[in-house]
Amino acid sequence: MPQTFRQWIYAKPVVNDTLELEQFEMRECTIPELEPGQALVRVVLVNVHSATRMRMARGITKPGETDPSNYACAVVIKSRDPAFKEGDVITCQTGWQDFQVISSSDKAIGYPSPSELVKALNGTNSQWTYAFRPAMVKMWSPAVLMEMFGTSGMTAYFGVRECGPLMPSDKVAVAGTAGSVGSIAAQLAKISGSYVVGFAGGSDRCQWVVDTLGIDSCIDYRSGNLKAEIADAFPDGIDVYFDGVGGTLTEAVVGLMNRNGRMVSYGAAAALYADKFDSGSVPTTLRQMVGITDEIETILRERNIKSEAWIVDAFYHERHRAEDDLSRLMLAGRLKPIRNMVVGFENLPNAIVGMYRTGHAGKLQVEFGTL
Ligand SMILES: NC(=O)c1ccc[n+]([C@@H]2O[C@H](COP(=O)([O-])OP(=O)(O)OC[C@H]3O[C@@H](n4cnc5c(N)ncnc54)[C@H](OP(=O)(O)O)[C@@H]3O)[C@@H](O)[C@H]2O)c1
Repeated sequence: MPQTFRQWIYAKPVVNDTLELEQFEMRECTIPELEPGQALVRVVLVNVHSATRMRMARGITKPGETDPSNYACAVVIKSRDPAFKEGDVITCQTGWQDFQVISSSDKAIGYPSPSELVKALNGTNSQWTYAFRPAMVKMWSPAVLMEMFGTSGMTAYFGVRECGPLMPSDKVAVAGTAGSVGSIAAQLAKISGSYVVGFAGGSDRCQWVVDTLGIDSCIDYRSGNLKAEIADAFPDGIDVYFDGVGGTLTEAVVGLMNRNGRMVSYGAAAALYADKFDSGSVPTTLRQMVGITDEIETILRERNIKSEAWIVDAFYHERHRAEDDLSRLMLAGRLKPIRNMVVGFENLPNAIVGMYRTGHAGKLQVEFGTL
């Protein structure tokens, strides 16, 4: 049984919203004795989420501490918590560290409590702490478990379902198509037979999107001619918009949406990847947070566009069904997980810093070990 664990901390405050390697420092800590109701997990892989830099720059992650909000795949190696048994492969929130003490009574970090249904399904107090079914662990690697059956795949699955049913006649726009949620949503929309156009930063990435995801076309959102290019790609207007980006792209797309369209807004990547964070007023509602401005609200109302914004755990009581459906599509070769892996605990800062510098495709993950 290990006596110590390694942990990366946020060491030096961020200057000018720019992350450098000097922001991180590794330390070694003692693993405490387990109390009744606790379990020790070995972290196999963490998903790097795009809000990491913003959390550091805004002091949500505090200097001298780790970021405790990451989504990880972990193995239970010792348990005094009846909700977990040794050998369970789970997902939970962890710091940037290779071992962690958890408890099924822990609440989610950064989110309100889940519904009673989700608590009952998980057997824990957090929507993010969940033991994968053994069949899923047998079939899929930790990377796939955490991409397809983590927040990315689940958001894509429930988002496409909530926009649906998607019909072959639907003209669908998917923002952030090279990104982790967008790459899955675009494939799911195409599987429905719809006409699907994506958006990515640069012509190479657009080519990658079309070649890899098999959608109809992809527009470079950085081109100076964005509105005209969207109008060309959608001569009959846009029926469905799947949006994790917000900002100018969303303004341009919504302007071309048809009456009775459908839109799911789940994220604000444009704000999270901006060189400088907006210093204006902090959004107070989820709809504002995901880029639905007053002007966009007006268009949505005038054109009777069904518009939803939610955090994916709202659907987590249905996650077994989603896991089964997504598994079937992957087994049939119709849905591809996109691999974007950095290997090695020591490389975690590099992965985080690099995420804001070089375009990546799919979910950025850092693997610390194997199951
Ligand atoms: N509601 C929920 O439950 C939920 C669940 C998952 C994620 N989210 C949120 O959804 C958002 C996206 O998540 P993700 O994991 O898919 O992120 P991701 O993998 O980092 O992808 C983000 C994508 O956004 C694109 N992008 C960045 N800046 C842009 C801009 N100014 N205009 C247009 N596109 C831009 C990037 O395109 P290029 O790389 O091609 O430049 C990138 O592919 C995040 O805000 C995340 O927090 C919410």
